[in-house]
Amino acid sequence: MDKIVIRGGNPLHGTIPICGAKNAALPLMAAALLSDEPLRLSNLPHLADISTMAHLLGDMGVSIAMDGDAQDGGHMGRVFVLDASGLKSTTAPYELVRRMRASILVLGPLLARHGHARVSLPGGCAIGTRPVDLHLKALQTMGAQIELSEGYIEAHAPNGLSGGHVLFSNITVGGTENILMAATLAKGETIIANAAREPEVIDLAHCLVSMGAKIEGIGTDTLRVQGVDKLHGAKHAVVVDRIEMGSYAVAAAVTGGDVLLKGGRADLIESVINVMRGAGVEITEEPGGVRVRHKKSAILGFDAMTEPYPGFPTDMQAQMMVLASVAEGASMLTETIFENRFMHVPELVRMGANINVHGRSAIVRGVPKLSGAQVMATDLRASSSLVLAGLVAEGETVVNRVYHLDRGYERLEEKLAACGAEIERVRGEG
Ligand code: EPZ
Repeated sequence: MDKIVIRGGNPLHGTIPICGAKNAALPLMAAALLSDEPLRLSNLPHLADISTMAHLLGDMGVSIAMDGDAQDGGHMGRVFVLDASGLKSTTAPYELVRRMRASILVLGPLLARHGHARVSLPGGCAIGTRPVDLHLKALQTMGAQIELSEGYIEAHAPNGLSGGHVLFSNITVGGTENILMAATLAKGETIIANAAREPEVIDLAHCLVSMGAKIEGIGTDTLRVQGVDKLHGAKHAVVVDRIEMGSYAVAAAVTGGDVLLKGGRADLIESVINVMRGAGVEITEEPGGVRVRHKKSAILGFDAMTEPYPGFPTDMQAQMMVLASVAEGASMLTETIFENRFMHVPELVRMGANINVHGRSAIVRGVPKLSGAQVMATDLRASSSLVLAGLVAEGETVVNRVYHLDRGYERLEEKLAACGAEIERVRGEG
């Protein structure tokens, strides 16, 4: 298995291009199942999860033409043309769902357009139990018959789905996306209340509208969808990745650097920017993106609590803990979305951080320096926090289990090395 080796201490200077968002791209790819005309998606990142979704859709009979890389909406990214006209299977097998939970996003579109879907139940994952009960309950409200059998969700709607009033008891990003896609082809009106408002949900809604869907309330917590008989093909550029942007913002700040996040949009991570500014980091919007600068003065301790959008994102909690680890004074980071998202803590402690976890909160007492160590993490954002810690630590840090990073960060080591970081990937076996 590959490793990332970092010798910390170099301030980052330069430009980092920000990719299209993985978490927008995955539901957008699933949306291709809603039409028998081609969906052209541009600004897709080169990531393992995108390949897994392509594999899943390809096995179902979706043809995917890769159109190389193209400049679209000011971004450079991969282009896929997905054509689900020759669909031959409505099954998402265990082997792929186990690898990527977002495979569950094919459930709503398959059921809406084909009246049947067989999708492996995703198991628990490193950050929490992550059930899909809210997705299933909402589809039942829309008339689906659902059974769980041999580890699979067997869903049927032989006469199509019907509109209904879906009230999510908890805000769920994937649940909102699944039901939004399903509702576009349901009979009548679907109201989705307590809907997630993440930029990735909004991006999906805009793409669906350009495919002919009738959706009102985009960007609010109540989505009203008038079902249509058919969706058509469309072209859509994936929104920029706010979490990749936030992660490199922390990299610039924590190393005392000056980096332009090219193509970045400050409006997508206002909650993170507010906390970073409060900690003394200088963040400005520029024509080409967002510039993050931090002078030699100390970072001030801060508090942050994860919440659904527009609150502070859970996907930035681990990275911000690195900033807190080298800040002056104490910080508190509270995780309210997932029940087990502090796995990076013991690894950061091995690098010299002073962190105590009390229930859902981590108290971080800033230390003057971190020191390099062998570390590994069990999920994507935890792994990226270890890279950030390695950039600021004295000596050598070796981050193992790099495949987690490859799921969510395109060319991470190249982007950081281009800004002066001493970082390399060491290829391993297996
Ligand atoms: C999405 O996961 C993201 N993944 C996650 O990004 C992100 O952390 C999460 O939203 C929260 O922002 C993708 O978009 C592919 P949820 P999702 O449904 O949709 C509970 C990353 O690092 N819940 O909003 O699976 C659930 O257990 C990842 O890129 C139920 O109880 O998240 C969690 O506690 C990791 N029942 C909370 O709701 C359900 O049926 C929010 O989960 C569904 C969710």
